[in-house]
Amino acid sequence: MANVVVVGAQWGDEGKGKIVDWLSERADVIARFQGGHNAGHTLVIGNQVFKLSLLPSGIVRKGKMAVIGNGVVLDPWALFSEIDKLSAQGVEISPENLMIAENTPLILPLHQDLDKLREEAAGASKIGTTGRGIGPAYEDKVGRRSIRVADLGDEETLDSRLDRLLAHHDALRQGLDAAPIDRAELRAKLLEIAPKLLQYAQPVWKVMNDYRRAGKRILFEGAQGSLLDIDFGTYPYVTSSTTMSGMAASGTGLGPSAIGFVLGIVKAYTTRVGEGPFPTELDDADGQRLGERGHEFGTVTGRKRRCGWFDAVLVRQTCAISGVDGIALTKLDVLDGFQRLKICTGYQVDGQHYDHLPTAASLQARAKPVYEEMAGWQESTQGARSWADLPANAIKYVRRIEELIQCPVALLSTSPERDDTILVTDPFAD
Ligand code: GDP
Ligand code: IMO
Ligand code: MG
Repeated sequence: MANVVVVGAQWGDEGKGKIVDWLSERADVIARFQGGHNAGHTLVIGNQVFKLSLLPSGIVRKGKMAVIGNGVVLDPWALFSEIDKLSAQGVEISPENLMIAENTPLILPLHQDLDKLREEAAGASKIGTTGRGIGPAYEDKVGRRSIRVADLGDEETLDSRLDRLLAHHDALRQGLDAAPIDRAELRAKLLEIAPKLLQYAQPVWKVMNDYRRAGKRILFEGAQGSLLDIDFGTYPYVTSSTTMSGMAASGTGLGPSAIGFVLGIVKAYTTRVGEGPFPTELDDADGQRLGERGHEFGTVTGRKRRCGWFDAVLVRQTCAISGVDGIALTKLDVLDGFQRLKICTGYQVDGQHYDHLPTAASLQARAKPVYEEMAGWQESTQGARSWADLPANAIKYVRRIEELIQCPVALLSTSPERDDTILVTDPFAD
């Protein structure tokens, strides 16, 4: 039985939510393993639209187990406001269908403060974060001063954790001209939310290993994208977690052999939110058209996404690093009606050719895309549900992408709607 890991293969917003929702029909367990509520995953099911940030997308289907693994950083207040929002949309959420790893570090208001203070202080060199406190929360995890879910169960532990954490943050805040943390207020807030959160707390590593032994099908839902990865992304314009497939195992408490099929989610063009290099970015009418047709506005912050041509160099690179077995190519319909399409096949930097994105920031900033052009198609692919419905030039475009990225298409998506999806290879099949 193959367990499937879904990862974004570009800069996020590739359509992971839609694909995870579609695949979750075939899964028993859907687990988040990194990131936090910086993610914004959109599901369109009939006339209902669900926007999920922290909750695994499988939560909208009855009878599935949703898991938040230890690799996530969790803002408990954001979690309950998301649960309330989904409950109002008719989704039932309880410890029967949601569990959270006891060793998950918390995002606190002080992390969001620091995220914003730092971004403001950075001025033009800001990262363009989502302002959710993700980076500061991961720093505290690695700095061994996080408050984790299980710490809320014991006041003495909580007090000693607070001592350690506030000593650090108060010193930082002083340097940023911010007032010290109101310890009593934070402590009271944590104790207030503790019983609500602790109902969901489980030794997730143990339950996941039991599921695996019982032959349950596990679907791991990645957030962000490979080019936002802390090691392999366009550093420092990245998020603070490992977004690659390997994290699915350590972010939930399973060994690496638990990962079967790695499905990379790939948009048929490229977008990015926030700052940082983007070699194929378009500032012209084509870029505008991609943004308008693709409704490229951030789910979390509402920011306009930067748009550009498909960059096969980047996707070949991220597919290799995550060991992608097949891709889900999304938003093909957005390209309907273009006369010509361009695909980036390499870069020129100072007269030298590169077949990969160089690591040095100065080289990344100067990388000029080398394009190959293809004829577009005038027919509509929107809502196509079989390969036979696709125009010949759309098929040529897809085939060329497969060749250039050295990875086959397993799924193709032609609209936001759940069922407008073409299955080529079932990732869950052995
Ligand atoms: P995620 O973060 O990877 O889950 O992606 P987002 O949900 O942030 O952004 C993807 C957007 O594209 C959402 O609004 C989806 O509803 C939409 N979408 C997904 N697949 C398709 C597709 O094949 N065609 C079109 N037109 N929209 C799509
Ligand atoms: P999903 O899961 C797109 C970007 C931010 C910023 C950088 C760092 O919806 O694909 P952070 O708040 O994580 O410290 O911000 O990462 N970013 C995303 N971009 N999609 C996301 O998630 C993102 N999550 C973070 O815009 O550039
Ligand atoms: Mg998103």
